[in-house]
Amino acid sequence: MIALSLFLLAYPLSFKGKVYNIESLAKEEGTFSLTVEDEEVFFNPLKVINLTAIGCTDAQEANVTVASKAPFGEGDFYCFVLGLKSSETPKLLEEGNGLSIEYNGGASNPGKFTFLFQCAKEEGTPALTRDKEYNYFVNWSTKAACGKGGGSDVFGIVFFIILLVAATLYFAIGIPICACGMKKRGKEIIPFIHFWIALPGLFKDGVKCMFSPCCKSKSGYDEVIAKDNI
Ligand SMILES: *[C@@H]1O[C@H](CO)[C@@H](O)[C@H](O)[C@H]1NC(C)=O
Ligand SMILES: *[C@@H]1O[C@H](CO)[C@@H](O)[C@H](O)[C@H]1NC(C)=O
Ligand SMILES: *[C@@H]1O[C@H](CO)[C@@H](O)[C@H](O)[C@H]1NC(C)=O
Repeated sequence: MIALSLFLLAYPLSFKGKVYNIESLAKEEGTFSLTVEDEEVFFNPLKVINLTAIGCTDAQEANVTVASKAPFGEGDFYCFVLGLKSSETPKLLEEGNGLSIEYNGGASNPGKFTFLFQCAKEEGTPALTRDKEYNYFVNWSTKAACGKGGGSDVFGIVFFIILLVAATLYFAIGIPICACGMKKRGKEIIPFIHFWIALPGLFKDGVKCMFSPCCKSKSGYDEVIAKDNI
């Protein structure tokens, strides 16, 4: 069951066609550490932390994302597992401006540990709160919670393709017309010239004479346009 749920979670996280690259917030090595009262909380979003490295050698679980240390007796401390990697549950926030990732610490710990990743233009720093029932919240304002893809990016890609097609047509049609063929083929193709001459203006003239040695001057075309316009 646990193995299955781990298998089903795909990274980067994706909801409704948008990708949330929360992994980009995680530390490559080590963990984040924040304190609430006398409890020190260690976490690394979506990752497994090294319990030995934080001094929690007594914790039995292997795949832990969140753990904490609290003083216990004199000069001693106790370790708590607050988030098992296997309990990881990502969700879109109901307000629609980010996502939450919830963990629990297993049977020995009734509280929940929740990351609240809120969409923001600037990268914020994580802030920890703990309620009376020992539920923990890490509020984190980040660009990663805005998600990538969906509407605006698709629009950008479509716009780029249209631009590419337009540029290809421009050169595919504009250059052969320019390359001396026009006059021989007669008047019926002339409207194309009108279009291509009118659209890019002076830039077109520059390109025309760069690519085609026959186009010494545009006076020939100007005459034809003048006649048509009358
Ligand atoms: C965890 O940390 C300890 C002490 O820093 C280190 O010896 C050990 O190799 C680390 N384990 C992993 C899996 O990185
Ligand atoms: C921890 O996670 C690894 C990789 O998903 C898995 O192979 C291993 O069995 C897990 N260990 C425990 C104790 O759940
Ligand atoms: C984090 O967000 C929760 C819910 O919006 C709020 O109750 C809590 O006070 C916030 N904590 C911090 C440190 O901003």
